Amino acid sequence: MKNIVILISGRGSNMQAIVDAGIPGARVAAVIANRSDAAGLAWAAERGIATAALDHKAYPSREAFDAALAEAIDAHAPDLVVLAGFMRILTEGFTRRYEGRMLNIHPSLLPAFPGLHTHERALEMGCKLAGCTVHFVTAELDHGPIVAQGAVSVLDGDTPDSLAARVLKLEHQLYPEAVRRFAAGEIAVVDGKVASGAGAAASLLSPVPSSKA
Ligand code: GRF
Repeated sequence: MKNIVILISGRGSNMQAIVDAGIPGARVAAVIANRSDAAGLAWAAERGIATAALDHKAYPSREAFDAALAEAIDAHAPDLVVLAGFMRILTEGFTRRYEGRMLNIHPSLLPAFPGLHTHERALEMGCKLAGCTVHFVTAELDHGPIVAQGAVSVLDGDTPDSLAARVLKLEHQLYPEAVRRFAAGEIAVVDGKVASGAGAAASLLSPVPSSKA
């Protein structure tokens, strides 16, 4: 059984999608948040999953917080750390510690629009496609080898909220599938890129022409 530790900061809908997917050969060993009021914590606790909250404001530095966070994560002997709406910039040491076994989901088609307000920015630029990306976490924010991407059409009249809602639905499909592939040992990074291999087709979700996807 592979152990997955999921980090959240808020509602944790991606965490819920991963738990509900029931990844073969893996279990969600713990859900950890940097805010005790993260709604996803209660959801996980109700399902018997170990939870912890570490308030980043209680630590004197980013390094001190990341060290405490690593200790909390490592108590669950993780094979994979999953960032699911975890709103913290991580130190280089922390990202190195989990290199090759820490994934993030970002609500844009990276490398476009790293950082915040991705949907506003995609609309402002007149993008015709928007989407989400699952990638390995490296020291550079929203960078790192791309594991999976999903795209949706941008529709006339879309607002940041309507676009976010459509992309989020896709996130809930894409992230569990990427985690499943990781747990199955189907993902290999070669020369800084994820090699396409077994199951790679499941890593690309694209809109069907003329659908509302
Ligand atoms: C998602 O849009 C994710 O892509 C981004 O933060 C949001 C988290 O949502 N990183 P949730 O907490 O998983 O519901």
